[in-house]
Amino acid sequence: MTNHEIKIAFDEYDSLKELNTADYDLCLEAANALKKSHSPYSKFRVGAALRLQSGKIIYGSNQENVAYPSGLCAERVALFYWGANHPDDPVEAMAITAQTDEFMLTKPVTSCGSCLQVLAEVEKKQSKAIRVILYAPQGPVWVIEGIENQLPFLFFEERLTT
Ligand code: THU
Repeated sequence: MTNHEIKIAFDEYDSLKELNTADYDLCLEAANALKKSHSPYSKFRVGAALRLQSGKIIYGSNQENVAYPSGLCAERVALFYWGANHPDDPVEAMAITAQTDEFMLTKPVTSCGSCLQVLAEVEKKQSKAIRVILYAPQGPVWVIEGIENQLPFLFFEERLTT
């Protein structure tokens, strides 16, 4: 038997003000994106903003449906929009935030596994790691570099790609 250990790492900041200007601005864009959340069922609003290499910003927010599984998370709305519209403009960073009127969020909301798998595909497609910045209305800001620091056991099968 061999025991393996995998380490993941991220940076924690006390507030948005400690970020560099580009990342700070992207966080504000994620809060803007969240205003277009369609979440009448969960009442949990999530916003995502992607900053592309060209400087362009792409927005996503969670979009729910009365047939619950038909909805989609904010991250995948933004990442699939990128793939459909700007696939040649690499994603540098993605900021994500969430709000709800039901309770106070005091720590960042981390992405679901499906969104992380999609994020992994984008990194693979563009051959470049993406910085993810997570924050909530209260509490710290988390900055995570690259998918290997969020989903080390992502699904990857080389033989399925050409
Ligand atoms: N949600 C996201 O938008 N991103 C995630 O990574 C997890 C959850 C959304 C889906 C649903 O509309 C609401 O949050 C509650 O689960």
